[in-house]
Amino acid sequence: MNGSSEDLKAGIAGVFDRVAVTYDTVIPFFETFARYLVGAAALHLGQRVLDVACGRGACLRVAASHVGPSGYVLGVDLSRTMIDLARQDLADVDVPAGLVEVRVGDGEHLDLDDDFFDVVLCGFGVFFFPDPAAALSECRRVLRIGGRFVSSTFVGGGGGYSWIGDVIREVRPATPMPTPSPVSTGSGLIEFLRRAGFTEATTRRVEARFVFPDVDAYVAWNWSTGTRRLLESFSPEEAKTYRRASAERLEDHAVTGGYELIQAAELTVATSPRQSPV
Ligand SMILES: C[S@@+](CC[C@H](N)C(=O)[O-])C[C@H]1O[C@@H](n2cnc3c(N)ncnc32)[C@H](O)[C@@H]1O
Repeated sequence: MNGSSEDLKAGIAGVFDRVAVTYDTVIPFFETFARYLVGAAALHLGQRVLDVACGRGACLRVAASHVGPSGYVLGVDLSRTMIDLARQDLADVDVPAGLVEVRVGDGEHLDLDDDFFDVVLCGFGVFFFPDPAAALSECRRVLRIGGRFVSSTFVGGGGGYSWIGDVIREVRPATPMPTPSPVSTGSGLIEFLRRAGFTEATTRRVEARFVFPDVDAYVAWNWSTGTRRLLESFSPEEAKTYRRASAERLEDHAVTGGYELIQAAELTVATSPRQSPV
């Protein structure tokens, strides 16, 4: 790993450490998509599942209920606080001992045996890898022959409303928009999966609906996701502009009970083939 990649990952781990306490507490965003993702994996009793970039464990709990006590689910995440809280959350629910484990780790360098898992899940994680080819190659290495990789990405580049970039430019007109990861779309991910030797890659679009009760809830949700990093950099004046500009645009989404967010995502499934492609 080179210096800049290491810095990038330290920054990512840091923001998710700070996000972890409120993660998925404002609206059940990741929990909802975790059910879709695990559904797309079509898990069976007794299977071994790895959840790469597991966060606070949204997919772990659902996967555990599908593989049952004879299965095994392991979650790996770069953020220590996410892992600590995922462990605590799991202790609060009735999961048989040994069925689910979590540990701090890097998806680009999995400290795991070859050919062990039946399914690798990665919910809204692939686009954080500075080297997605390395991460997908690792996922393939730990999958048994015929095992499946199942991953979600956002439609439209990121989670949330499509106007967030306009709001950011209103706050800071000169802000350069980050270059999107080449695997931030289903089609980009499929291309990388093929290069990593996966076959039968397909993508399916799903949607979920959420309601923010008020503007404060929308801003609190931003603080509970990776967007937090940007918000942390705002001056008090910029934060006010961000809130006002968001509030104006939220009016277009007003429904009974608050503001509606229809989030589209893509679920991509691919198979680790019998033989490496030549
Ligand atoms: C948007 S969250 C998704 C978490 C979880 N999969 C879910 O659906 O709730 C992205 C997660 O990716 C993790 N992450 C980013 N880069 C990673 C890497 N190189 N290795 C492992 N985890 C990583 C972050 O720490 C964060 O918890």
